[in-house]
Order: sequence, then structure tokens, then C-alpha cells
Amino acid sequence: MISTRVVATAGYVPEQIISNDDLSKIVDTTDEWITQRTGIKERHISAGENTSVLVTNVAKKLLERASVSAEEIDLIIVASVTQDYGTPSLACMIQKEIGAVHAVAFDVIAACSGFMFALSTADKYIKSGGYKNAIVIGGETLSKIVDWTDRATCVLFGDGAGGAYVEASGEAGIIREDIGSAGDQYEILTEGYTECANAFNDKESSIHPKWYVNMNGREVFKFATKNVAKSIKKVLEEEQITQDQIKYFVPHQANVRIVEVVSKKLGIPFEKFYINMDRFGNTSSASIPMALNEMNEKGMLEAGDLVVLSGFGGGMTWGTMLIRW
Ligand code: UT7
Repeated sequence: MISTRVVATAGYVPEQIISNDDLSKIVDTTDEWITQRTGIKERHISAGENTSVLVTNVAKKLLERASVSAEEIDLIIVASVTQDYGTPSLACMIQKEIGAVHAVAFDVIAACSGFMFALSTADKYIKSGGYKNAIVIGGETLSKIVDWTDRATCVLFGDGAGGAYVEASGEAGIIREDIGSAGDQYEILTEGYTECANAFNDKESSIHPKWYVNMNGREVFKFATKNVAKSIKKVLEEEQITQDQIKYFVPHQANVRIVEVVSKKLGIPFEKFYINMDRFGNTSSASIPMALNEMNEKGMLEAGDLVVLSGFGGGMTWGTMLIRW
């Protein structure tokens, strides 16, 4: 049976680092509040590199690390909510930059669960037998869609990109997944709302306040702790394995308190969850692949290790995946 294996990972962040103290100079906040409520200490912010630059850098590193040429790539899928353009997709922009002339390229939108949805899509293409490999990337410049006068949201997010090169294999890679959507709750987390505007409409076309990230933090917190715990439990039960067989859990890096609640609910030691939000903040669809790549670069993962990736985000959406390294 064909399985999809992660062969290489990569990440890229813009150079500029903004600390909590830097933020306290532009909004009414403190390092203490941000650290205690979220676990975030600093984040990288783009000083001009748009999302296409971030994701293209990741794609180039993936080709190098997997030792494959761009012409050999069958599929490019990018998850993002901060594309450069409405169209073209970021995936098509990568295709041009690296010269992946034979690839099918498109983007998916599932907010912070985006990488899980993109990886799940690539897995289905590969399992269909018609595609032998894929570049899957999550990348964001959230700094361009946050309201820098709103202390409740601007302190949470950061910019970055991460991704994986995956390949068809006879050995188990992606073993099981649980992805889902709860569109009935979409209003608790939105961004990018644009007004209807046309030449026959005299309404002023301006940026609507809801264009920025708009969030009911407490409701999102509740959604996350409930659904991430439920989703991880489901995947482990369906695969009939216990948490002690899992080497690491790689959660979406939104808030350390969300991870603490999930860890308690499932009785999984907190140390088994990989955390890097202190240095990058919430990078939405990039957070899980950036974390996975960091673990890989540190040599934390060995062949055969079982790893669980799990995220949640706007939509509302969630996604969990059990993979064998
Ligand atoms: O990727 C998915 C994206 N989103 C999330 O994962 C968000 C999930 N939710 C959360 O992480 C938390 O709800 C937040 C970190 C967003 C907020 O934490 P909270 O403990 O739920 O705080 P809160 O919204 O209930 O606000 C408590 C207080 C309020 O003041 P009052 O009304 O008690 O006087 C806020 O105005 O904290 C105030 N506040 C701040 N104070 C200092 C809100 N933001 C700030 C700030 N600095 N940056």
C-alpha cells in the first residue's frame, strides 16, 4: 500500500525581532501580561518580505535537503491566509521561482489548521497513485493583517514559514488523521473581510474594520482546548495506541495555556509537547511545520519515532495527524 512519508523539512523567518517590551511602546500592554497570558516573549516581523518570499525560501531549502530537482516535483500546496495576491496562489508563485514546471500548484485556506489540511490533501493525491511527491508549506505575514492599535490581537502573532517535502513510500509515514470544520462558529475568528464594491454602487469602498484579525479570544480558547483534546484522543484510540508510544506532540503554537489544558485533559506530560511560541508567537499555518522543522534540525527525531501534529484555527477548523518519522 502507498503511504506518504516526510523526507525533509525547512523553515524561514524574517530577520527583525519584536519583543514584548517593543510592543509596550506602541500599545497599552506589558511583557508580564503577554508572557503570563500567552507564553509569547518575542516574534519575527517582516520588514518588506511578503509571504511569497518566505514560502519560496522554504521551498528552495526543501529541494536542497531532499536532493530533488524542481522539475521532479509533482505537487505544490501552500496553506496561508496572508497571500500576496487573491490570485495567483502562493503555490504558483513558488512554481515560477523554483522552476517546478511539471507541478500542479494551489493554495488552501484553513487558517491555523492550514498546514494540516494541506498535508492531508497531499497525502490523498499521493495515495491516489498519480503523484509521487509534494512540497507542502504553511506561510504567513500576519503583521500585515493585524490592527497594530488593538492590544488584544497584535501581541499574539508573528511572521514565518515552514514546510515539508513528502514522498510516496512503501513504509508507513502519515498513519492516521482527524481533520474537521465547524463553520457554524466562523464568526469567533475572522480576517480579511472585504466590502462589496462595484462601479454601480455609490457606497464608499474603504477598509472595513473587520478586515483586520477580529477575534473572540475566550471563545477561541474554549474551542481549541475542547477540539484539540478530542481530536488527539480520537486519533490515538482509532490507531489503538497510547500516549506513551508517542515521542512528541507538536501543537499549534497559539498560547501555552491552551497546550497546558490539553496536556492535563489527556494526561499527557507537558514536556512531551514541543513549544517554541516564546520565540515566534502565533504564526498561524506556519507554526506546526516551523516547530517540526526546528525539532528536526535539533536532531530530536529518529527514524521510526511516532509524532502527533495537532492544530486548530479560523473557520473554525482543526486537524490532527499521526506520523511515523
Ligand atoms: O490561532 C488561533 C488564534 N487565536 C487563539 O488561539 C486565541 C485563543 N485565546 C487566547 O489565547 C486568549 O483568550 C487571549 C490571550 C487572546 C486573551 O487572554 P484572556 O485570558 O482570555 O484575556 P481576556 O481577553 O479575557 O482579557 C483580560 C483582560 C481584559 O481587561 P479587563 O476587561 O479584564 O479589564 C483585556 O482588556 O486583559 C486585557 N488585555 C490586555 N492587557 C494587557 C487584553 N489584551 C491585553 C494586552 N495587554 N495585550
